[in-house]
Amino acid sequence: MKRLAILTGGGDAPGLNAVIRAVVKTAENEYNCEVLGVRNGFDGFIQDGGVFPLDSKGVRGILPRGGTILGAANRGNPFALKVVDPDGSVHYEDTSQRVYERIHSLRLDALVVVGGDGTLHIAQELHEIGVPVVGVPKTIDNDIGGTDFSFGFDTAVVTATEALDKLHTTAESHHRVMVLELMGRDAGFITLYAGIAGGADVILIPEIPFRYEAICKKVNERVSRGSFFSIIAVSEGASVQGQEQVFLREGDSIHQSRLGGISHQVAEYIARVCDVETRVTILGHLQRGGSPTAFDRWLATRLAAEAVRAVGRGELGCMSALQGNKVVTIPLSEALATPKRVNVLGDTVLTARSLGISLGD
Ligand code: F6P
Repeated sequence: MKRLAILTGGGDAPGLNAVIRAVVKTAENEYNCEVLGVRNGFDGFIQDGGVFPLDSKGVRGILPRGGTILGAANRGNPFALKVVDPDGSVHYEDTSQRVYERIHSLRLDALVVVGGDGTLHIAQELHEIGVPVVGVPKTIDNDIGGTDFSFGFDTAVVTATEALDKLHTTAESHHRVMVLELMGRDAGFITLYAGIAGGADVILIPEIPFRYEAICKKVNERVSRGSFFSIIAVSEGASVQGQEQVFLREGDSIHQSRLGGISHQVAEYIARVCDVETRVTILGHLQRGGSPTAFDRWLATRLAAEAVRAVGRGELGCMSALQGNKVVTIPLSEALATPKRVNVLGDTVLTARSLGISLGD
């Protein structure tokens, strides 16, 4: 193994820099191998100065830093790259051949792609046209198949739990129902884990469509027991039984739709029907920022080192993954076959129910 390149794609997540550092160090220490950094996701392959040498000096001090020193391109898809024309109009170009040629000319043993579902799908497509890739699973949503956890998730859960702790004190003072909207798209992991850790009274996740009556029942029960405040943690992707999810912006063939706004609907309904005062907090991108937790640094480092070792063993088209307490590699196609969702019959949901938390069903 002589030369690797690494890029970070899609939305950022705490722990990306820990991955970059571990890839560079493992490549140098174990294989005396050179590493190239690619700026702004796949776009870097066709941008001036987008590819540059990255050595252990270049990754010094980045372990505790959030974000990514390489930059990320949320919509940087080489198969449909957004191009703005001089007159301001927009069209989409298939640049995959240019990307392929650039990668080929760099004589890479492998391209390490650190990304979530969307970025790893692009990696898989590139692998199918002959690009040597290896993936590292990243997302605060924890929705990538084949791995028990992706890095970034734990930090997001800690941030969301802190928010719930803070909402508790002010909710109690003012006898209010506080509704906290959390990220996660179609997966309720952040909301479920933080909801349990932060003592929420109601947890609403996409995997369990809810009924307003069930939420009101819980709020009223608490009032009748002398608890004049309640905390509701709601996933951005949660929905009322039989109804659609709530979007801030509809998607199209290129852009994903943006979820958001369900918390306002929940708060308005409860205020009206339960006759309580409600307030909404949408935690948003705070969940993606800041220094990674020790767990995320540890996981990111293990996943990254394993990805490099996989290339050393000649394994390509795969992704490193955490299964139980072991880091393994699995085919990218297997990881991407089925997105991961909360198991509604699993022990975490059962635990929430055992504690008397309402799941809204
Ligand atoms: O997938 C990660 C995530 O943070 C989701 O939880 C959220 O819905 C989305 O990205 C937000 O994306 P953007 O950065 O485009 O606002």
